[in-house]
Amino acid sequence: MLSESFISELKARNDIEEVISSYVNVKRRGRNLVGLCPFHSEKTPSFTVYPDSQSFYCFGCGAGGDVVTFVKKIENLDYIEAVKSLAQRAGLAMPEDGYDDSYAKLKTRVLEINRETARFYHQCLISPVGKKALEYLRGRGLSDNTIRRFGLGFAPESWDAVIKHLRGKGFTFDEMAAAAVAVKSARGSYYDQFRGRVIFPIIDIRGNVIAFGGRLMDGQGPKYLNSPDTPVFKKSRNLFALNYAKSSKESALILAEGYMDVVALHQAGFTNAVATLGTALTAEQARMISQYAAEVVIAYDSDGAGQKATNRAINIFGEIGLPVRVLKVQDAKDPDEFIKKFGATRFKMLLEGAGSAMEFEIAKLRAKYDLDSPDGKVGFLKEFAGFMAGIRNPIERDVYVTKTAQELGVAKDPLLVQINYIIRQRAKSDEKKKARDLSVFASGPNERRDPQRMSNLKEALAEERLIGILLKNPDYHGDILGKIRPEDFVTDFNREIFSVISDRLGQNRSVELIALSEQLSEEQMAKVAQVLADSASTRATRKEAMDYVETILAGKNRKSAAEVQQMDREALKDYVAQMAKRKKENIR
Ligand code: UTP
Ligand code: MN
Repeated sequence: MLSESFISELKARNDIEEVISSYVNVKRRGRNLVGLCPFHSEKTPSFTVYPDSQSFYCFGCGAGGDVVTFVKKIENLDYIEAVKSLAQRAGLAMPEDGYDDSYAKLKTRVLEINRETARFYHQCLISPVGKKALEYLRGRGLSDNTIRRFGLGFAPESWDAVIKHLRGKGFTFDEMAAAAVAVKSARGSYYDQFRGRVIFPIIDIRGNVIAFGGRLMDGQGPKYLNSPDTPVFKKSRNLFALNYAKSSKESALILAEGYMDVVALHQAGFTNAVATLGTALTAEQARMISQYAAEVVIAYDSDGAGQKATNRAINIFGEIGLPVRVLKVQDAKDPDEFIKKFGATRFKMLLEGAGSAMEFEIAKLRAKYDLDSPDGKVGFLKEFAGFMAGIRNPIERDVYVTKTAQELGVAKDPLLVQINYIIRQRAKSDEKKKARDLSVFASGPNERRDPQRMSNLKEALAEERLIGILLKNPDYHGDILGKIRPEDFVTDFNREIFSVISDRLGQNRSVELIALSEQLSEEQMAKVAQVLADSASTRATRKEAMDYVETILAGKNRKSAAEVQQMDREALKDYVAQMAKRKKENIR
């Protein structure tokens, strides 16, 4: 376990406000800060940072905790890694003793393997064994400089080329399998993951080689093979070439579909291009893009699949609030082919002419109808009105309505009347929906975490408040623990939290959030943060604490209706007497 003094030093040097501000755009509101939650997608901010208690809590998704919980969640680390990362941030040395850091060590080994493997593949590419692959890449228009810059490589047509090389460098089979450069067969032997493929190393923003994509030049098998997720790689939270694109001077990032598109774009001078890694765009990737760019230009393939993916991506960026433009690759299948056919200057023109996401949507709508026929026109205008009604900004709405009305040769005013009518209708049904949403509130994060909460709401609330009071007033613990033990708690979930806190207080150890995060699970931390958030502006007295204790004890002794029915006469008599006595005590 980490020492108390280390933990308090860690806390002192990692102010939650500063740490969170480096990831999330938060604005001051009174004593606290609010912003859009990085852990779920939302349009109105419900993510709150409480500098007073050094905690955060999201009223939308229920995520919460201290600075360590936050780093754990946002960087996808385990507890000790998060502590290390914060220690590093603050320039604190980690105490050496006693922690199991085998997973952290494995990660280091995997990164070493990846680097060595990338070097090996690149060496193969520029040696005789890679002759065909090098010709292939040059044939696709890549210069030697580009090949070097991206560290492209060739995985020889062999079952053990990489394995042999890595064995020679002292790596074990298990480590190679963890890095997913080797695969363990059903019979227990190992073989190379990539064979006879051109290799695109995937490099993170810290410069680590974290994975590979391999392209087949000919023959059987999937065109691209990508590393699966490993201890150092999660494909949903990385982007190809972001390591370079993040330092581009452009304020926009270009999002393409494929590795080759990105490499070709960079070579042509568009060093702000990135791509997802063999999967559709995720919200996490969109959020990363929004951290580095004020705007994104989607430059997907021109085929149907590319257009579908464009729609999806527009929605994802829309939720995050990042402005989107859509580039239409014409007379070529993708940006790579376009640049090859028409050159960089023409691509630059495409880029400059890329319309807003709105124009893309309208063009798509128009393409659905035959605008030369009256029926087609009416059909389009109806759908267009519905679409425009969804646009919040009236000025923006007016721009597109005017333009479209002109283009179709129809009057603008009736169209606006229709749109305003739809807006009013939707507002009405939104009201109804809100009312309904309130009733499903009962299935929120609280109920997921603590299934006993709803059926024991009074006691559960008392338990939560008591925990809150105790955390803010550790000096009450003598009084409180003299009256109530963890066993007395009604809900299992709160009992565990209370038990950790009371044990620590009993041992005279800190119950600051950052100290608790060592022992509490993520769910428990979220609850504690919620409790603190709820009681942020209230001062609690000993008397109040004692009232909550009474409520919990009464609830504990209160039998359910079913239990009472099961009792025999004697037991029932005892129970009634006991309840009466309690009531009298309470009144007194
Ligand atoms: P494309 O088929 O559009 O490939 O797939 P590309 O990038 O244009 O490649 P070239 O030009 O034919 O070499 C786009 C992306 O989808 C993923 C890869 O990430 C690829 O870059 N993909 C495609 C796979 O993961 N597996 C596949 O079999 C095919
Ligand atoms: Mn291509």
